Amino acid sequence: MSACASTGCGPEATGILAIPQVREVVCVASGKGGVGKSTLTVNLAASLAAQGMAVGIVDADIHGPSISLLLGTGSGVEATAEGLAIPKFSHGIWSLSVGNLLPPEAGLAWKGPLVAQAVEQLFREVAWPPLDVLLVDMPPGTGDVQITILERMPVTGAVVVSTPQRLAVVDAERGIALFHEYDIPVFGLVENMAGHACPCCGEITRLFTGGHVEALAKRRHVAYLGAVPLAPEAAAAAESGTPLRTQDPASAAVTAIDAVAVRVGDALTKERLAREHEAGLSAEQRRNAAEFWQNLAE
Ligand SMILES: Nc1ncnc2c1ncn2[C@@H]1O[C@H](COP(=O)(O)OP(=O)(O)OP(=O)(O)O)[C@@H](O)[C@H]1O
Ligand SMILES: [Mg+2]
Repeated sequence: MSACASTGCGPEATGILAIPQVREVVCVASGKGGVGKSTLTVNLAASLAAQGMAVGIVDADIHGPSISLLLGTGSGVEATAEGLAIPKFSHGIWSLSVGNLLPPEAGLAWKGPLVAQAVEQLFREVAWPPLDVLLVDMPPGTGDVQITILERMPVTGAVVVSTPQRLAVVDAERGIALFHEYDIPVFGLVENMAGHACPCCGEITRLFTGGHVEALAKRRHVAYLGAVPLAPEAAAAAESGTPLRTQDPASAAVTAIDAVAVRVGDALTKERLAREHEAGLSAEQRRNAAEFWQNLAE
């Protein structure tokens, strides 16, 4: 969670416990289903890992997990002597998904306290190695799981995914609003399936009337992180349990996701510096800052 500008309060001050070994938590979310969150999560993870970061993924889509399939990690999870789940490691990425833990029919009727318990277990009852960033593949919508994560986990920021159509953009706006309600920075919007990349020159031809996602970014004062073209090869990569970035590094979609990853890396650095600055302020400086913001508000 971002440090509050007026008081310097952060996760500790709000009672949200850090996740041992995990430096930053970034949610990949959208309002709408099927826009490419899971695909982006896996490939963003691969791009960040290629930048030299230690990266993990939590599959928070407990009712419709995809990460175990997209990373080909299979079922069955071992535990440490302390009873912590040992995350899977494949394609340079650590991950844990309900798909690794339970058969497909499990969890369908989970709600309320059971959801909260499942979320806690997926994030905290895990022997994560030291991670620079833990990406969270969020379920679609703005329901129980999302609220539980925003209320209980130390989320640094979010990347919101939308397809170009107005219907998806309307839902993405709801997604952004939810993060803002919890004072969590939205690092930006990714426009997925944004058009067709010419196999010869890579030039992207738009298939839908464009501009809705960029307009939303402007309206909500968040960055437009980039457009990822339709990549028919994404389906083949998904089938083989391999990130597209590993299977087809020359894909135009991979180039676009690599550029998104650089921007996400920059946003994380900015958040970390802001936190370190806040932590370095004396109690008196904090009081002065709080008074300044209070006076401004009045
Ligand atoms: N850029 C792309 N080009 C082509 N196909 C894509 C692209 N991005 C995602 N897909 C395909 O779209 C489908 C939905 O993608 P994905 O499962 O990642 O979406 P999601 O938002 O996670 O869905 P859900 O809300 O159900 O979790 C998948 O079949 C995936 O292979
Ligand atoms: Mg998904």
